[in-house]
Amino acid sequence: MTDPSTTTADGAARIDALLAAMTVEQKAGQLTQYFYFVLPDTDAALPDPTDAAEQPRQVEAALARGGAGSLLFVTDPAEINRLQRLVVEGNPHGIPALFGFDVIHGLRTILPVPIAMAASWDLETIERGQAVAAREARAVGIHWAFAPNLDIARDPRWGRIIEGAGEDPFLGALVAAAQVRGFQGDVLGAPEHVIAGPKHLAGYGAALGGRDYDEVDLSEPQLWNVYLPPFAAAVAAGAGNVMSAYMGLNGVPATGNPWLLTEVLRERWGFGGFVVSDANAVKSLVTHGFAEDAADAAARAINAGLDMEMAIAEPAFDHLPEAVASGAVSEATLDAAVRRVLEAKQRLGLLDDPYVDEARAREVLRDPAHREVARVAAQRSAVLLKNEGGLLPLDPGTPSIAVLGPLADSRRDTIGPWVFDFDLDETVTVLEGIRNRVGDAVRVEHARGIPVVQREFPSLFDMFGGNRPEDPEGFDEQAELARAVEAARRADVAVVVLGEWQNMIGENASRSSLELPGRQLELLQAVVAAGTPTVLLLMNGRPLDLRWAAEHVPTILDVWYPGTQGGTAVADLLFGDVAPSGRLPFTWPRTVGQVPMVYAHAISHEPQNQGRRYWDEASTPLFPFGFGLATTTFAYSDLAVDRVSVPVDGTVIVTATVTNTGERAGIAVPQLYLHQRFGSAIRPVRELKGFQRLELAAGESAEVRFEVGPDLRRHWSTAARDAVLEASVFDVWVGADATADLAATFDTRG
Ligand code: NOJ
Repeated sequence: MTDPSTTTADGAARIDALLAAMTVEQKAGQLTQYFYFVLPDTDAALPDPTDAAEQPRQVEAALARGGAGSLLFVTDPAEINRLQRLVVEGNPHGIPALFGFDVIHGLRTILPVPIAMAASWDLETIERGQAVAAREARAVGIHWAFAPNLDIARDPRWGRIIEGAGEDPFLGALVAAAQVRGFQGDVLGAPEHVIAGPKHLAGYGAALGGRDYDEVDLSEPQLWNVYLPPFAAAVAAGAGNVMSAYMGLNGVPATGNPWLLTEVLRERWGFGGFVVSDANAVKSLVTHGFAEDAADAAARAINAGLDMEMAIAEPAFDHLPEAVASGAVSEATLDAAVRRVLEAKQRLGLLDDPYVDEARAREVLRDPAHREVARVAAQRSAVLLKNEGGLLPLDPGTPSIAVLGPLADSRRDTIGPWVFDFDLDETVTVLEGIRNRVGDAVRVEHARGIPVVQREFPSLFDMFGGNRPEDPEGFDEQAELARAVEAARRADVAVVVLGEWQNMIGENASRSSLELPGRQLELLQAVVAAGTPTVLLLMNGRPLDLRWAAEHVPTILDVWYPGTQGGTAVADLLFGDVAPSGRLPFTWPRTVGQVPMVYAHAISHEPQNQGRRYWDEASTPLFPFGFGLATTTFAYSDLAVDRVSVPVDGTVIVTATVTNTGERAGIAVPQLYLHQRFGSAIRPVRELKGFQRLELAAGESAEVRFEVGPDLRRHWSTAARDAVLEASVFDVWVGADATADLAATFDTRG
């Protein structure tokens, strides 16, 4: 990956010439990104109708004045070209704008939600998925994705857990790099790719109480060992942009935090791209009680290392010229920021060719290969949590199937949150997927049973329409519930699709409970009581309280929000056309009262007490990190280390045998965990340090091999206030999840 800070000599000269010719006002314009809402035809209430109605006019006036480094939230290629023309013609240097967008899990072809993609533990699938997202985005004229979200999330009350890769820094870092490669391709500016914008630097997932935007206090070891590694990996993979977080980190807002944006990001990691704020986060420096006013906020942000302000209205960066005049911001600082933005435009080829081919955009969006990538991603991300009596795979010749529940036939929920340019007509629900798969020979009956939620909750995204819960009008809940139970009774198998309405998760969508919302548990209990073998399909982005289900429902398959091809992939899995192979990227607590709960915790008291620390609940999770069943079984044996004693910087080769002991082919995901027994700091009881996906035929065995080198043993220690590699004794486990018990030991003191 080419370092985004380097440009050719000719390119650098061109940027020098532009900088020399630009006024301070024009430079401030380059550092401003405007929201430009093109709202769908909807009667949804806007958060602030006055502003929103005025907003396009204000933005267009600004564009005509020549001041726009970037625009966000436009996806129509014709509209992008129109606005780009306004920008190019509005400024004397003809500098085009970067168009940015939240391409989180697809643009038109919607992939499974990011937490689901992480659950595939399949880096190629993740990279391929974001490459499809990038291709569609670039085709319509978007140059930059505000993704991936790299926030480690250890509190599932926080709705944005769905956008990231879960709780683990090792998995998180690998998923981060794969996504950056997917978005950007081999080199920043590659055709059919976009700039990746890892976000939100940093620590956002540790919001107090899981309440979105709340403050974050993280110790240095937590930051360096847990929350920062995915960002470091994204920067190392060449990410061209980084987005600063909203909240305060240890008392200093991330967006005005020189330690984070300059010392860590640029000086330590060598980041050469540009940094954008989260929406309105520069002005929020005033809200935090940090900056005195918008002018002070602008100066503090840019001096801290921020390059571009994402502004909803009246940018704080409008004050940059006065900040330069007063000396609060130096011209050198301003120029350095503008240079980074211009370099990004140059790398994308925008300075020469700013417009997009609208006809080609339509073609790319229709590409059937994209749907296939989405289907495979959905197949690989589903996690089989329980399969008592081998109920899955179902026999496609089962005479009758009842497909029940409020999410069984909801297209909008099937694709999940954080999508805007979707096409519901081509979204396949679970009901449709099953019907398509089994054909007319099987009787498939459907009843919703009950709605997911009985009341609306205003969502940030209501203005984009399509986010309403099902209309309860004319819906006789009692009768529908009875109908669902009757359908179950008549069927040979019941497939019940439950979970969260997609608006209940994502940004600004925290929950204080992890229970199945509404009367869904009641529906499930009634269906199970009907005596029909039941498969629970979950649509969710966070772990839910499944204590009852885990005890009473024979089969539970977590399909997340599986995307455009979700229903097709779910049918592939249900009927055994493909084997379930996802693994949990987080620890699944039994109840909200256990939260936060992570497998990589420290131990401080007698081990025998660790499992019994609540009076009223076990202190173990319902499902451990890394867990996921197959429709076959795997056994782990013969764990060996090639050397029991190695130098402190030596590499140990760890091998183990995995055997498919069942009667079907399946995919094992052998995982390696490591623990340092003693040293200058307490280390977690175990940490993931390696994994593979391994396809094994029935009865087949294979050896898995992991290299445990010094990099995997380094950790940030308070004693050194830096990363250290310590001579110690290490335990290593290889197995199916974070509870793996096949262990070996090696010593690095020799
Ligand atoms: C706010 C969110 O925090 C961020 O993730 C997103 O990219 C921006 N809004 C733009 O939509």
